[in-house]
Amino acid sequence: MKSILVTGGAGFIGSHVVRRFVNKYPDYKIVNLDLLTYAGNLENLKDIDTMPNYEFVKGDITDAPFINSLFSKYQFDGVLHLAAESHVDRSILDPMTFIMTNIVGTVNLLNGAHEIWKSNTDGKRFYHISTDEVYGSLGETGFFLETTSYDPQSPYSASKASSDHLVRAYHNTYKLPIVITNCSNNYGPNQFPEKLIPLAIQNIRHNKPIPIYGKGENIRDWLYVEDHASAIDLVFHEGENGETYNIGGHNEWTNIALIRQLCITMDKKLDREPGSSEQLITYVKDRAGHDLRYAIDSSKIQRELGWKPSLQFEEGIEKTVEWYLNNTDWLENVSSGAYEKYYEKQYKSR
Ligand code: NAD
Ligand code: TYD
Repeated sequence: MKSILVTGGAGFIGSHVVRRFVNKYPDYKIVNLDLLTYAGNLENLKDIDTMPNYEFVKGDITDAPFINSLFSKYQFDGVLHLAAESHVDRSILDPMTFIMTNIVGTVNLLNGAHEIWKSNTDGKRFYHISTDEVYGSLGETGFFLETTSYDPQSPYSASKASSDHLVRAYHNTYKLPIVITNCSNNYGPNQFPEKLIPLAIQNIRHNKPIPIYGKGENIRDWLYVEDHASAIDLVFHEGENGETYNIGGHNEWTNIALIRQLCITMDKKLDREPGSSEQLITYVKDRAGHDLRYAIDSSKIQRELGWKPSLQFEEGIEKTVEWYLNNTDWLENVSSGAYEKYYEKQYKSR
């Protein structure tokens, strides 16, 4: 039986990855290590938490002695590293948590893997899951390639860029077997409602203003989360040692066009008068250092590994809205307490 560590498996993307691996690979023992910060929620995995090949461990990747003891106990064959502080606006309010988790935490995991694999790397793999935000911002044309220079603009993207460099440095210096992927914006079930799409869904439900930063002209390339999980599965098993792959949906939307589309879907699903949700759109003060456009060229992973997204955006957004409307308890639970305080701080003065 292979022993696989997934970090951040109680979060948005991590929970989809854990579910996929636990169900698809009964001969893998999946250990999900997560600190259960505000963004982590074991509710996300309640359908698989009694599976015999799954184990949850609560812990902090910034705690080096703990990480070393975990590697020594489980003798992992593979690591899928997703644990991170992931929200740009929070990184503007509090950069240090991002430095600790995203940089120091990644180095602790690299050290743990290096320590147990240094004499034999056969069949071993450290997979670092990263973001397209490390490349900075595009103008109106062009795409991010794997060879695009790093130019991160926010504390979040700078911390992720730093972790990518460190993962590559461990490959070059210690021959640690690694792969890295840089993915565009994900959407789908279980995303914490601080991010644009679930935040807008939650606010529309409560007839609250939908805050749009600046003029709403910033562009993101959106990918359904299960398509990201399928790419992660493929790269983990078939990616070339030491390589980087970009993952994206070829699905660019300005924020305002996306929110208008979402409003149409929400009006239909909530049986509201057409056009009523759109009236909630409210332009607010722009995000500091707001990247204008992200767009991924994913031809390398398509060509070399045969990956492609399975869902069209219209279908994906429909499934997403349905999931949130069928899981309003989840949405209400994660939106209460500490999140209300964050929301107040983040949006009060805009
Ligand atoms: P998320 O914020 O939903 O989940 C992060 C998880 O990490 C949470 O469960 C949290 O409890 C856990 N965590 C945080 N700090 C920890 C610590 N110190 N020790 C252990 N666990 C800790 O994030 P997500 O959106 O699922 O993103 C997962 C990964 O994918 C991140 O590395 C992110 O940079 C990357 N990514 C995200 C997107 C996106 O659109 N969400 C796109 C590309 C790449
Ligand atoms: P977000 O979901 O935070 O992802 P990222 O910053 O990683 O791309 O934001 C997506 C886009 O939506 C981004 O251009 C910022 C914008 N945005 C708003 O206009 N209003 C909001 O309340 C939020 C959270 C984001």
